[in-house]
Amino acid sequence: MTVKRMVDISWETFSALPVEQKTPYLTQPDGTPFHTLFAQQFDLPLLDRLTSLATEIRGIAKTRAGMEFLREQVNHKRAMLYFSQPSSRTFLSFLSACQILGVQTGEVRDTSTSSEFKGESREDSVRTFSSYFDMIIMRTPEKGLAENTAWVLSNSDRPIPILNAGSGQDQHPTQALLDIYTLVRSFEQNGGLRDRTVVFVGDLARGRTVRSLSHLLTNYPNIRQVFIAPPPLQIGDDVLASLRARGVEHRCSDDFRAAIPEADAIYMTRVQDEWDKVKGESARIDTTRFHFGLAQLALLRPHAILMHPLPRREEISTDVDRDPRAVYWRQMRNGMWIRTALIAMIFGCNKRIHDYYRQNL
Ligand code: NCD
Repeated sequence: MTVKRMVDISWETFSALPVEQKTPYLTQPDGTPFHTLFAQQFDLPLLDRLTSLATEIRGIAKTRAGMEFLREQVNHKRAMLYFSQPSSRTFLSFLSACQILGVQTGEVRDTSTSSEFKGESREDSVRTFSSYFDMIIMRTPEKGLAENTAWVLSNSDRPIPILNAGSGQDQHPTQALLDIYTLVRSFEQNGGLRDRTVVFVGDLARGRTVRSLSHLLTNYPNIRQVFIAPPPLQIGDDVLASLRARGVEHRCSDDFRAAIPEADAIYMTRVQDEWDKVKGESARIDTTRFHFGLAQLALLRPHAILMHPLPRREEISTDVDRDPRAVYWRQMRNGMWIRTALIAMIFGCNKRIHDYYRQNL
């Protein structure tokens, strides 16, 4: 891929490009991301490199000497965690990833305590952050903000990377990476992530994790995607159009029961009622048929896995937790390793980690 420079394009032109055409502006010359904004930035070779690096890091981290080695890798860098939307697991997962690599961190979680509250523009706030930090990890309720911040920084005298930790209802690329890592690990002894059916269930209209994961899955051979939701919460037309364009087999339905026996992976999600336009509108949608309990477990194939980005509400009953096919807690821990791998790659220490792994494990 020919890398392009963000200083050569106006914000208006950049923001109007289709996502695929934005990628060359976000990439480093060796093909690794500089800014990480969209799932579409990841192709199969890059996903393979990232998932192997995560596994190497996880192996190295098992010993004290390995942890000490990892902690020296990026201890000359500082990261800012800017989370203006509620988060516990993603925040802690990024924080832990930074700690593993020795990256020092600062945080803003409540914008009412920042100067934005005094009327400072977002642009000025971001440039302030970039004066003190070498990376910004950003979660916001606004769709294009991480992208705009990336453009602003790339056009400033301190162009530091932005990592999107969830942008409105649009994208959550690092959640999709940990979901992929979980799928890859779950099937590695059993034919790999190919020729599978992934069933998405719940609020697919507003769940950003589903949107990002659906894109990432298109990189793997012959993965069918099934979208199960009550009609008002069904997946967006833009995702379906992109699946059609990539020739990916898919279908939409509201019959969960029929989809369970064909699934290799079921990806449950909660109702995202924080996005309700009219208070209480989600509560009027009947979601009782989109629940996973012991009756649904009985229909699940022996090798299939049950995933959830968490937090859950009542869509998966806790009775299911002890079944080995319920992988959501492992999935969450995988997030820490894949985010560590991504940060290591962005800061260019992947080769050193790989060499250490080859020599010591
Ligand atoms: C998800 C999110 O924030 O989009 N949470 C997470 O990061 N694991 C899913 C959700 O909130 O439902």
